[in-house]
Amino acid sequence: MRSLLSLALVLAACGTDSVTRDDDDDPIVEPDVCDTSYLDYDNFGAPFVINWCRGCHSSSVPQAMRQRAPLGVNFDTADDVRTWGAKIAEKTTGMTPTMPPAGGPSADERALLAEWLTCGAR
Ligand code: HEC
Repeated sequence: MRSLLSLALVLAACGTDSVTRDDDDDPIVEPDVCDTSYLDYDNFGAPFVINWCRGCHSSSVPQAMRQRAPLGVNFDTADDVRTWGAKIAEKTTGMTPTMPPAGGPSADERALLAEWLTCGAR
């Protein structure tokens, strides 16, 4: 439940354009973060999972070296990462991330991961 909530917060933060008003009461529409996000699989998603996840979550890691990462939970390709995107967001972003088990990614990196996943992991 907590993790669903944190995903909802991430999604809400990235949701619709927010509208504020200046002194003239004209609406000012802030651009949606996803309209300006430069993150994609090649420049962000792949390096992130290579650095932080594939040591355990890859089909090329022998079973004995997966450190109990569940068999079949592999992030070998962009499609794999997209398939697991909601679970990855749940475990790696939010208030109390549990992946990677030993920690590592900075809060900024985790925020970028949330942005990339929320904006469609393109
Ligand atoms: C040191 C090995 C290791 C690394 C590195 C690692 N994991 Fe894991 N992962 C595990 C283990 C062990 C589990 C099973 C226990 C659990 O779910 O907490 C797991 C479970 C998961 C699950 C849950 C799968 C399910 O079926 O619910 C996800 C999603 C996940 N990891 C994502 C990641 C991501 C994303 C990264 C990189 C940021 C990562 N993991 C890095 C070992 C690892």
